[in-house]
Amino acid sequence: MNSKMVIESIAKEVKKRFEGESSGHDWWHVYRVWKMAQHIGREEGADMYVLELAALLHDIADHKFHNGDDTVGPKIARQVLSGHKVPDDVIDHVCEIIATLSYKGAGVTTDMRTLEGKIVQDADRLDAIGAVGIARCFAYGGHKNRPMHIPGEEPVLHQSKDAYFKSAGPSINHFYEKLLLLKDRMNTKIARRIAEERHKYMEDYLDRFYREWEGEA
Ligand code: ADP
Ligand code: NI
Repeated sequence: MNSKMVIESIAKEVKKRFEGESSGHDWWHVYRVWKMAQHIGREEGADMYVLELAALLHDIADHKFHNGDDTVGPKIARQVLSGHKVPDDVIDHVCEIIATLSYKGAGVTTDMRTLEGKIVQDADRLDAIGAVGIARCFAYGGHKNRPMHIPGEEPVLHQSKDAYFKSAGPSINHFYEKLLLLKDRMNTKIARRIAEERHKYMEDYLDRFYREWEGEA
């Protein structure tokens, strides 16, 4: 199999695994991250094979669905990649990216070592903001039976991964706990530019949300 065939085959496999998932972690999230990673990667001169594989496999076994175990993702990714006879150095790189990628709270840094890691992280974070990000936030909240908004319930800037993963606040608080913090955490210039615009859109959205909440026009 050449690399194009490997990517197509893995995309198919990932799509199959995600069928029926509605918490905001679905094939179409992976698809958007994959497309955005390609967009950024072409401009940044990234290794596109590593980049595309990491984008496709980045949420293959999210820790949230494995009782906080963040070693399951890289393990499954390794199986899928070995099954396609991908070279060991590529597998190691992709698994490193998957293991270190995710957001772990306002006060926790998650630095990526390589350009390809930085780009997948940017693409994943861009999908958490803007119009799609807003939709995902409420979809996730609904999936977890969280209220949209409780006036007076303050957001928490989590200082540890555990505290962040245990949080169960209203969905609107998630804007302050994560979404609005992402624009300053982008790794690449293009992602920063896209994030600026999506950020403004979320600020306008919140402004309208509170006005409508209080019966204003
Ligand atoms: P990612 O796929 O970017 O790693 P997560 O796994 O953290 O994102 O979460 C999936 C989606 O659900 C994201 O859009 C995220 O912002 C949203 N989400 C995560 N935690 C919460 C929460 N406590 N309330 C509302 N939305 C959330
Ligand atoms: Ni993701």
